[in-house]
Amino acid sequence: MSRRGVAILGATGSIGTSALRVIARHPDQFRVVALTAHANREALDQLVTAHHPVFAGLSGSAGGGDVLLAAATHPDVDIVLNAVVGAAGLAATLAALDAGKRVALANKESLVVGGQLVLEAARRGGGELVPVDSEHSAILQALGSAPTSSVRRLVLTASGGPFRASSAAEVVTATVGQTLRHPTWSMGRKITVDSATLANKALEVIEAHFLFGLPFDAIDVVVHPQSIVHSFVEFVDGSMLAQLGVPSMELPILYAFTHPERSTDVGIPRLDPVAMGSLTFEAVRHDVFPMLSIGVGAARRGGAGAAVFNAANEVAVGHFLDGRITFGGIPEVVGETVDTLGSLAGGTRQELLDADARARAHVEGLVRC
Ligand SMILES: NC(=O)c1ccc[n+]([C@@H]2O[C@H](COP(=O)([O-])OP(=O)(O)OC[C@H]3O[C@@H](n4cnc5c(N)ncnc54)[C@H](OP(=O)(O)O)[C@@H]3O)[C@@H](O)[C@H]2O)c1
Repeated sequence: MSRRGVAILGATGSIGTSALRVIARHPDQFRVVALTAHANREALDQLVTAHHPVFAGLSGSAGGGDVLLAAATHPDVDIVLNAVVGAAGLAATLAALDAGKRVALANKESLVVGGQLVLEAARRGGGELVPVDSEHSAILQALGSAPTSSVRRLVLTASGGPFRASSAAEVVTATVGQTLRHPTWSMGRKITVDSATLANKALEVIEAHFLFGLPFDAIDVVVHPQSIVHSFVEFVDGSMLAQLGVPSMELPILYAFTHPERSTDVGIPRLDPVAMGSLTFEAVRHDVFPMLSIGVGAARRGGAGAAVFNAANEVAVGHFLDGRITFGGIPEVVGETVDTLGSLAGGTRQELLDADARARAHVEGLVRC
């Protein structure tokens, strides 16, 4: 079998560098064709020297506007790993699917902001969407070839983040340092904050809704601090299937590349059921972590609701990381923005872009007050 060409959008990030390790272990199956970063030229240069892509570019440079699209649609590329952070990933996901590529989707924001557009692009262009998020990879694997009609519900697991056991008062005053200390996963800064607020789980519920075609009422979340069970599928007969693995993104990245086939991978530690000890599950504390219900509530409105939530959260997280708002300020400004703008229309790409821009401006206004 010929080697499949891979484009990695966001190659300098946490998912991007994990993917490069996966590819380096399977030189017989994959080759790096295109790499992008946003602003980190030095890190990108190092990756270019190590992996010799045909194409490399900085999307944040002057004239970098088309870098993501050029990488995503490069003729030698079979698989596009979209590991860009934020709504900025949407256009490349659409372009890759339109060009008939397999999109290994880490950038869940693509589906949150433009779920219907993404599904339409896949249908139109013949591209294929395979999730990288460990929860959605677990569901894909547990579903196998079962039809949607045989599924009663999906249960996404959440680690609970660093404040799983903290009091409400401790959570609202949490510092940036405490927030970035995730107990089980090592990830980029934005998703690490989202894991602590549970905004990430809201994004994942919305992602699952579009990926697996199930209503929001059929998607639940349970806290599982060990991050070993990556999610469950409950079937109509009451049977539940789960996928388990050590908390490493390398396995779901590899699976997104090979699905429905599997590959051997000596680099990922194997799971020893005796050594893994107890697996525990808890209910989400919605009163302490309101971002999950704010996000899912926004998506239930339809239109641009989810896009407004996502944009407001991106800006709020940036301000939290820069010290301009508190941890407790994130749900405050995002909730207010969803209340004000969550019913905007979102049927077209332009409407979604407009809603995204208005939500960002609204949060900026709130933070300045
Ligand atoms: N990390 C995980 O374990 C994990 C798990 C599941 C899903 N995800 C999802 O995967 C995506 C990437 O997460 P990450 O943790 O890998 O993030 P990260 O470490 O912050 O890396 C982000 C990457 O995207 C680039 N980038 C940043 N802003 C950009 C923009 N506006 N346009 C284009 N590229 C941009 C960065 O380039 P520079 O280095 O030049 O800034 C970097 O290469 C997110 O959607 C996240 O939710 C991550």
